[in-house]
Parts: sequence; structure tokens; C-alpha cells
Amino acid sequence: MPVSPSRVAAFSILLRVEKERAYASELLHSPRWEELSSADHGLATELVMGVLRWRSVLDRQIAEFSAQELTRLDVEVLVALRVAAYQMSFLDRIPRRVAVHESVELMKRAKKRSAAAFVNAVLRKFPQQRRQPKPASIQLARTPGELSFASAHPLWLVERWERAFGLAVTQQICEYDQRPPETAVYLDDANVEHELESTGACLARGPLLDSARRVLRGDVSRSRACLEGRTWIQDEGSQLVAHLVGRGERILDSCAAPGGKTRMLARRNPRGEVIAVELHAYRARLLRKLVNNPNVQVMIADARELPVGVDFDRVLIDVPCSGTGTLARNPEIKWRLQPDDLADLRAKQIAILRSGMQRVARGGKLVYSTCSLEEEENVEVVEAALAGAGDFRLLNCSIELERLRSSGEFRWKDVASLVRGPYLRTIPGVHPCDGFFAATLEKT
Ligand SMILES: C[S@@+](CC[C@H](N)C(=O)[O-])C[C@H]1O[C@@H](n2cnc3c(N)ncnc32)[C@H](O)[C@@H]1O
Repeated sequence: MPVSPSRVAAFSILLRVEKERAYASELLHSPRWEELSSADHGLATELVMGVLRWRSVLDRQIAEFSAQELTRLDVEVLVALRVAAYQMSFLDRIPRRVAVHESVELMKRAKKRSAAAFVNAVLRKFPQQRRQPKPASIQLARTPGELSFASAHPLWLVERWERAFGLAVTQQICEYDQRPPETAVYLDDANVEHELESTGACLARGPLLDSARRVLRGDVSRSRACLEGRTWIQDEGSQLVAHLVGRGERILDSCAAPGGKTRMLARRNPRGEVIAVELHAYRARLLRKLVNNPNVQVMIADARELPVGVDFDRVLIDVPCSGTGTLARNPEIKWRLQPDDLADLRAKQIAILRSGMQRVARGGKLVYSTCSLEEEENVEVVEAALAGAGDFRLLNCSIELERLRSSGEFRWKDVASLVRGPYLRTIPGVHPCDGFFAATLEKT
């Protein structure tokens, strides 16, 4: 019996996430799976993201009915079980027999015929009623342990957030991570807005930025305007970081792919020259494809040893990071990241930041940013790079935010909630966007 294209896609993507440390959102938007019909792509996205968001809850349910320890199961078997368990526990529009049957067929397609009977036996023991955790259980959690259990986040992460932000804010973060985030687009042209609306999209003004719209209805990613690069999907927190970079004539974007911020820098500085550096050749290719602005030059290079002999009046250092501020979009990160990874990331980030600081012209500004909630990757990196760099001073981000507000580019009223000391700090669930950190340094 054929399996539906959406489940084949979900199974294949989840396997690659497990085996190759691939990113689900990148695979979902790869040419292979972009070819799915809109309905199949929608269901594949729901299954992939749902399984990754609720993995620990699903595994507890499967473990209840599996005669074998989950750690002893082949990854194909575990993924097929998770896909079915998610449908049975979380989705009310899919008949139970369809969920079971399709996961059994996935086993046969994966040439695991003997495991097909096992998958069937486990899934048939699942109770008839759905077992989705109640949304309120996250708000009712009284300890990091209860919150980790209810919200499907690793305990170590919840514990460190509770220490950094307190329990109430950690609950808000966890709740935000467990829902599909709203889609935001960068949109600076009223004609493009009308064009999107004329094709059925329903847009609302972004709560943070004048240049942002929320997509309330419609798939803008397949619109001509998006395909031609006249608008693009970009979280408002990410847009805000690019706004902080401001305007200049020579701009360095030192960790640039996939290029959301590069595009904004190019659009907002049409007479400026943007050098976009990316370490990985395949990501640089993606960057070149997405960012076709004539004032952008893409270079494949290591940002720790920048092969540029000139100085820049604006520099963006958007370093590779743990991504803990983006778990609603990239839920696999929470299962992959280990506490020890933070020290390795920090060392790399300090090296990239120090290298970028050497390329700032006198009087020029540098923005260091991450999409991480972790101090090791944020304040600690900035402090380490500034130690001994007497020719740099840390600027207060709230001054730049107020300036953006007076020019009408920034709409959010409560500037104070977005800053911690001199730093920009968006927190998912507290603010309507992913978690970003930014620091602005000026070369004196
Ligand atoms: C956080 S992402 C940048 C996101 C990008 N600024 C945007 O807004 O779309 C970090 C990027 O840095 C790249 N990268 C990692 N190590 C690097 C290095 N040593 N030099 C340059 N780029 C690096 C990664 O491949 C990744 O594409």
C-alpha cells in the first residue's frame, strides 16, 4: 500500500535530523520537499515540527507500551513510532487507523519488515482517547522538573533559564517554543504588500517594526514577490538586529548565510557596499542565490582570519551559536545541545568577534549578535573581547532603539523591556519574536 507523500517526507526528514544532525526547517524548504503540494507540505511540517517539539512526551507514551527499551530500537523504528504517536495524541483530524497503518507501511518501505509487526503491536496498545498535554500544565508547573516534564524541554536547559530569568519567564519561553511561531516578513514596499494581499495573503503590521508584517493567512513563501526577493520571511527579532547596524558606506557582514540580515543591510544601504563573509561553501552558494543585490559581494572565508585589507564603518558579527532563542523554529536543537557545547561556542565566538573588531574604522560601529539565550555566548563573549581593547566602548542599545522609534522605524513602546543593561535582549514568549541578543561597540 502506498504511503502518503506527507508522511514519507516527515519520516525521511526526521531520520536525517537524527542521523546527520540536519536541520528540519532547512530540509522542509529544500527543493526536494518544496515540490510537495501545499496540503502535503503543510502536514509534513506539522508532523516533523510536532514530533521534534514534543519528543520527550511522545517517548514516554511509547515507552509505556513498548516491550523493548527505546534506546535499543533502530532509529527508523523509533521515528515511525513517534510520527504515529504524535498523530494519535495531538491531531484530532487524523483517524487512528490511518496513523497506525501508515507508520507500519513506512517500516516496510524502510525494508524493516520484521519491525513492522512490532510497530503495529505497540501502536495498537495506545488508548483511544487523545493524550495531548494540557496547555495549562506548563503554567501550573512549580519547579524546573515539572516544567521540563510538561513542556518537553531538557531539564538542564530549564534549570539554567530558571536561574537566569526566573520561573515565570521560563514558563513563557517554554510555552512559546511549543507552538508554531507566527510568520513575519520584511516588507518595505507598499506595492509588494498590495501584490501579496491580491493573491490571498492576509497581513498585519508587525508589533516591533514598521518594515515587518505578520502573515495571518496564506503561504507567502510561494509568492512571486518572495521568489523574486522583493520580500522575504524573517523573524522580527532578526530584523531588529539588522536595524541596529544602521547605515554606512562600507559594511561587513561577517557570518552571513542564509542572508536575512545581509539582504536588509543591502536594501537599507543602497549606496553602501556590503561584504558578506561565510565559512561554508554550500551556505555561501545559498547566500548568493538568495541575495542578488548588486551592492553585495559574497566571500567564502573564515571570519576569524578575514581576508580583507580595508576597514568598515559598519560591521555585523552574527555568530554561529547554540540557537536556544529559536527553539520554536528549530526544536531539534534542544535535544542535540549539551551543556559542554557552550564553552566551545564561546571560544569560537570570541575569536570571530575579536577578528571583526580589527576591521572597524575609527568612529565606526560593530554589532555583535546571537540567537542564543545563554550568557556564555552573549555578555561573556562581549566582555572577553572588550578586555584589553581600550579603543572600543560599549554603546547603550536603548539609545539606538529610541532613535529608531523617533524615526518611525521601531514601533514597540516598551523599550525598557527589550534591554538588559546596555544590551538588546528579546525573549521568546515575553516579546513576540525569537530570542536575540545584541551589543553595539564603537571604535573611538
Ligand atoms: C547565525 S548564522 C548567520 C545568520 C545570518 N546572519 C542571517 O541573518 O541570515 C551563522 C553563520 O555563520 C557561519 N559560520 C560559522 N563559522 C564561521 C566562521 N568561522 N566564519 C564565517 N562564517 C562562519 C555559519 O555557517 C552560518 O551560516
